[in-house]
Amino acid sequence: MEVLIRPSSESAARLTAEIAAKAIHEKPSLVLGLATGRTMESVYGILAGMHREDGLDFSQTRTFNLDEYIGLSTDHENSYRYYMNHHLFDKVNVRQENTHLPDGTAADIDAECAAYEERIKACGGIDFQLLGIGQSGHIGFNEPLSAMFSRTRPKALAPATIRQNAPQFPSPELMPRRAITMGVGTILDARRCILLATGAGKAEIIAKAVEGPVTSMISATALQLHPKCTIIVDEDAAASLENKEYYRWIFENEPEWQEFH
Ligand code: GLP
Repeated sequence: MEVLIRPSSESAARLTAEIAAKAIHEKPSLVLGLATGRTMESVYGILAGMHREDGLDFSQTRTFNLDEYIGLSTDHENSYRYYMNHHLFDKVNVRQENTHLPDGTAADIDAECAAYEERIKACGGIDFQLLGIGQSGHIGFNEPLSAMFSRTRPKALAPATIRQNAPQFPSPELMPRRAITMGVGTILDARRCILLATGAGKAEIIAKAVEGPVTSMISATALQLHPKCTIIVDEDAAASLENKEYYRWIFENEPEWQEFH
């Protein structure tokens, strides 16, 4: 795992988008894992701009989202399908049939979860997974006590997640209490993971996720076990990290990051 610290949330989002765009250039048929949440909105805005202005080509890209609320239809304004259409899919040339999210309205949720895993496998696995982090320390909706080897499955949402996401609903009680999420094991199978966190509200959980012990109480700590994972934070989200000086040196000096300066 490595940590890259950028001065502002804008520059952190830009770096994330530039790394993703480079991956799409290098492999146009990239299998791209996608996350939702407010943090990702700026990344998708930048990627849409790269498509519009520089012709970044999504025509062969396949996408798999991490999660979806159970009970929300695709045209519900709070569904993650709606979010993805609105923030990215409708603004780039990705083919709708190449975009995948779990179906939160499936009659048989367990069968839908198993089918989602199969669809990922049929595409050759996820090449590049974008991640955010919730206040509960979740990646996807892998709430506390999610097994390190868990696969796509329904998960009950933690109180911290309900507090964090309920304000996005017209009224808090309309927020579903369950979601389908890729498992921690599904995420760890991705060939590369990039987690973006910005703002002071993420400082404590980022310090635990990056520098704390690996624990299923904080599913983001599982990323410490991943062979190629990059955590991108702004100064506010980096505030509680102990080894900032080392992380800063990495971005300034490691050859891999020079082209992003
Ligand atoms: C939701 C998603 C997570 C994401 C989180 C971050 O809970 N299920 O995958 O990491 O949002 O949210 P925000 O960026 O709004 O802080």
